[in-house]
Amino acid sequence: MIKNTYFDLIDQTFYFPQEGFDIEDGNLIFNGVPLRYLIDKYGTPIKLTYLPKIGTQIKRARNLFNKARKTLGYKGKYVYCYCTKSNHFSYVIREVLRHNVQLETSSSFDIDLIRRVYEKGWIDKDLTIVNNGFKPAEYAFKISELINDGFKGVIPVLDNRKELQYYNKWVKKSCNIGIRVATDEEPNFEFYTSRLGIRNAEVLQFYKDEIKGNKKFKLKMLHFFVDTGIKDSIYYWGELKKAVKLYCELKKICPSLTALNIGGGMPIRNSLGFEFDYNYMVREILNLVLSACREEEIPEPDIYTEFGKYTVGESGALIFSVLEQKKQNDAEVWYMVDNSLINTIPDSWSIGERFILLPVNKWKNEYRRVNIGGLSCDNSDYYNSEVHESQVYLPIVEPKAEEPLYLGFFHTGAYQDALSGYGGIKHCLIPAPKHVLIYKDSKGNVVDTLYREEQSSEEMLRILGYVD
Ligand SMILES: Cc1ncc(COP(=O)(O)O)c(C=O)c1O
Repeated sequence: MIKNTYFDLIDQTFYFPQEGFDIEDGNLIFNGVPLRYLIDKYGTPIKLTYLPKIGTQIKRARNLFNKARKTLGYKGKYVYCYCTKSNHFSYVIREVLRHNVQLETSSSFDIDLIRRVYEKGWIDKDLTIVNNGFKPAEYAFKISELINDGFKGVIPVLDNRKELQYYNKWVKKSCNIGIRVATDEEPNFEFYTSRLGIRNAEVLQFYKDEIKGNKKFKLKMLHFFVDTGIKDSIYYWGELKKAVKLYCELKKICPSLTALNIGGGMPIRNSLGFEFDYNYMVREILNLVLSACREEEIPEPDIYTEFGKYTVGESGALIFSVLEQKKQNDAEVWYMVDNSLINTIPDSWSIGERFILLPVNKWKNEYRRVNIGGLSCDNSDYYNSEVHESQVYLPIVEPKAEEPLYLGFFHTGAYQDALSGYGGIKHCLIPAPKHVLIYKDSKGNVVDTLYREEQSSEEMLRILGYVD
């Protein structure tokens, strides 16, 4: 009888082996690392970070941009910034800095992180540090203090008009600034215009009214970011065109403007069938900018990117054991894994994000359709579809198998730790608020008491590996 193995399924559906994934003795190899070896050594569940991938991604993006610049005769520079919020851990920041990238921050605690990184001697005061996000006073104050302390590469990017007042008040000498222009959302989205940034129609007037005559500020950067990422769609090209048009108009009245920051959003592989023509996209982005600048007879800008997911996403993986199979009716089989999917890959539960899912062993077994069940009691702690297929197929586990089936979710290195609160960290390092308990005493009076102070940056930086 012909056996239809899991290996056959993958081999016939995709190009396999492919970068980062191979099979040796029937077991999966991830970036050359035999996962069985790690499972035998550490047991499951395990979270893995394959650090060399970070450098590979940085080099690859630089090559893409530099190759395209050369082909097109694009004279502006290319500057790679790493968006810290996608993964704040010290080992990631250390690794990206080894590859000479610049940084982008998004919250007040991020500036404390920058201070630590400086104290450790990993950066000097010339590093470009782009500050994004809506800025409460504390964040803007810490940015101003960095500037006052001689960090020459700091570029606060104004999210709104009011933010400028902070730097007017706190920055002692002068500084570079940027403006984030708000993009319109994709047509099927719930809002029309992004809440982040200043409305396109207001930017020029704002510059004329409040920045142009102010000796303290030099407008250096126009920032724009499409939340849904870099895509070959009419929507993306339309938004980029609007931003470039604004850049050209601004440049004509603002000689200090030299940088166009196109944000993050470079996609990563979330399926073995993933297809994205990186070369084409990068070339077309630069081509669009270059053509507009030539038409308007202005020099083309330096291009800054803030790739988060692209830098760190493909370095991460999670390995689980299948503890048991549960057949709940004639058609549905559940593979129960030894951790919660909500807790480890929260994007899969909250925004339907998919990751590469592959078994580590049993590739020679036949396969079946399954649902993967997480350990929490939550009804929605499951995973049962992939990017290329609205179902999940995995090897059949023999009834009396000696070893369990091991499953890996791959390319999980961006955002999942922060969103799931790993160890107590938070998305964008926004601290947990102070907690007040309210109770009734024995006389029936309502009493309140402070149960816990607001989380401190020291606490978070300790978890992230910055405090010894
Ligand atoms: C301003 C800004 N830059 C960069 C990024 C990074 O995006 P990605 O991780 O998709 O590259 C984000 C993500 O939200 C962002 O808001």
